[in-house]
Amino acid sequence: MPLTVLNHPLIQHKLSILRDKNTGSKDFRELVEEIAMLMAYEATRSITVEEVEIETPLQKTKAKVILGKKIGLIPILRAGLGMVDGILHLVPTARVGHIGIYRDHVTLEPVEYYCKLPEDLSDRDLLILDPMLATGGSAVFAVEYLVKQGSKPENIKYLCLLASPEGIKKLQDAYPQLHIFTAAIDEKLNDKGYILPGLGDAGDRLFGTK
Ligand code: PRP
Ligand code: URA
Repeated sequence: MPLTVLNHPLIQHKLSILRDKNTGSKDFRELVEEIAMLMAYEATRSITVEEVEIETPLQKTKAKVILGKKIGLIPILRAGLGMVDGILHLVPTARVGHIGIYRDHVTLEPVEYYCKLPEDLSDRDLLILDPMLATGGSAVFAVEYLVKQGSKPENIKYLCLLASPEGIKKLQDAYPQLHIFTAAIDEKLNDKGYILPGLGDAGDRLFGTK
């Protein structure tokens, strides 16, 4: 059950500012983008490279390249959108698919409202992006959706900024082959399904809706 906590000092520092309730939307957006970029450096370590022939100023040689179009970034709307641009800086030719899910405030169950994905999911390394893995309901729903469209769980990586122990367990129980990357594992969920200590509502803080 692969789980990587990316506790690099740069990520931890930025995460601490993100958690602070006094951090406004502009800084929050920039920090989410920067942390996602730093996380992607590690999460893309095992993506497929191909050997091509190139010519240096001195001679021909074989060199490895990434086929960016074989990578799919799958943000879960809305909050996952905040992680896309940071990763596109590193892999500009990645395809981007969107899964729109919101969590019902009463039942905490995921509700789907939009989905548009790249073609040929079975050929791609996919990175699901969502800052918050809370109950795990949205994450499991998103993976299920991708698997139904032909993706293999072992080709999917789940990138979040904060994870609860409950969310990790739910996702790992459902998809043991999937690799989870998180910047921190927090203590627990409160009775409304919010991560403690957490950072509040990621979507609202990103987009200034509360
Ligand atoms: C948040 C978050 C995740 C989900 C996590 O989205 O971005 O998608 O909750 O909770 P879960 O693990 O319990 O499913 P939210 O439903 O608030 O929608 P938003 O991104 O549009 O604000
Ligand atoms: N969604 C959020 O945005 N924050 C939480 O703490 C839990 C779910």
